[in-house]
Amino acid sequence: MNWRVKRVEDLLASSTRSSLPRALGATQLVLLGVGIMIGTGIFVLAAQAAQKAGPGMMVSFVIAGLVSAVTALCYAELAAMVPVAGSAYTYSYAVFGELLAWLVGWALIGEYAVAASAVAVGWSHYFVGFVQNFLHMRLPTALAGGPMDGGIVNLPAFLVVLLVTGLLYVGTRESARVNAVLVAIKIIALTTFIVLTLPVIKSGHFVPFAPLGLSGIGGAAASIFFAYVGFDALATAAEEARDPQRNLPIGLIGSLVICTIFYLLVSAGAIGAIGAQPIKDPATGHALATGSVALAAACNLDANLNALACSGEALAHVLRQIQWPKIAAMLGVAAFVALPSVVLICIFAQTRIAFVMSRDRLLPASLSSVHPRFKTPHVMTVVTGLIVACAAALFPVGQLADVANAGTLFAFMMAAAGVMWLRRSQPHRHRPFRTPALGVVGPLAIAGCVYLFYSLGAFTQIVFVTWCGVGGVVYLTYGRTRSPLAQPSECTDMRARHADADR
Ligand code: ALA
Repeated sequence: MNWRVKRVEDLLASSTRSSLPRALGATQLVLLGVGIMIGTGIFVLAAQAAQKAGPGMMVSFVIAGLVSAVTALCYAELAAMVPVAGSAYTYSYAVFGELLAWLVGWALIGEYAVAASAVAVGWSHYFVGFVQNFLHMRLPTALAGGPMDGGIVNLPAFLVVLLVTGLLYVGTRESARVNAVLVAIKIIALTTFIVLTLPVIKSGHFVPFAPLGLSGIGGAAASIFFAYVGFDALATAAEEARDPQRNLPIGLIGSLVICTIFYLLVSAGAIGAIGAQPIKDPATGHALATGSVALAAACNLDANLNALACSGEALAHVLRQIQWPKIAAMLGVAAFVALPSVVLICIFAQTRIAFVMSRDRLLPASLSSVHPRFKTPHVMTVVTGLIVACAAALFPVGQLADVANAGTLFAFMMAAAGVMWLRRSQPHRHRPFRTPALGVVGPLAIAGCVYLFYSLGAFTQIVFVTWCGVGGVVYLTYGRTRSPLAQPSECTDMRARHADADR
């Protein structure tokens, strides 16, 4: 094992980030968090959650929200203490050493890329619905979804990723003002949905509440965790927060609470309005797997056409079912306008982590070359954009989201363990933000991440472990010998860390 660690001081010194003004207050942080989180998770994956848990998906939203909350509190302490680019990768470098940091970084690279693909596919569902219901045209099925969605290639998802990649290539960053407008659009869309659906709720639609039992609720929680992915980006705004000790937890917990309340009300409205029972295989009576060809085929049967679990644009679908077609079309436009910004944030985060890893010489230096005119990591942006576009063109949203969740949960678990370790090994280090009740919150965060990871299902776990295996090979054959810490003069090993801790 390679336990070479970077000292926190070295991390801070090697950071290219200049010291940023502390401009973000509690409200801005809450808005930022809500803007990052609301996306495909609620607009699209609510349908997948219905297939996995039925009405019990409401409990799934609460579980995923609680795991996110305790993790976010741990994340914030590290983010405030080591406010440099690279998030969990960088923190792990300081705590667990190079090998585990590499694995966390590798997992995060995969996570953000796959999350971007998932959001693009979710967006494409709304795009297809928009073309169909607003423009009264039909996209050929072969071009509207990947092979597992009954098509050949998802052209809209492919193209939106290329468009976003182009924007990132020339250096577009979402400004606070654009974020505020997009948050408002999403909040108005979800509020309208709630206002229209709650009055037509039928209590009978909530029975049976958990048709697939606790494992169904756990599986849906693991998938719907995607709806909360992104709050880590908020934690990394720690160095830009005014009075972080007060405002950061307000921003993190505030945005998580707001999102959880919206998600609960939206799912209650969807379930109550049209029902949310899973589609079962008529032969075996078992619920069909999400993202499977069998489910896609079952969804083409007349009996299932209106089922929530079969809808690619879950919320617009519900509104059409309760006879609000024009509002459904407008909600579709809201998703159509707002979701590409989530794709942008995901690709942006991915390229920045890969950039830091390349700067640390664990990835080829060419990946961190900066465009002479646009000042962007253009090579990394193009490579990422092409991979994300291809994944979006071929795979279903649910599977992509699950794989993205696996990487996130691994990184968050490491961050929670890291914060606990650093409290013991470096108790006197200055901490602008301290996780409250870490003795309880830390273990809860680790247990929550492990539980959700376990609930993701074997296929996703295998994909994740394979990805880590590939990462391990890349590290052993490339990064291990090139790392600056491999050079004797720069090496800091476990003993150095303990010496550091004893001081
Ligand atoms: N949380 C983001 C979404 O649901 C990634 O789209």
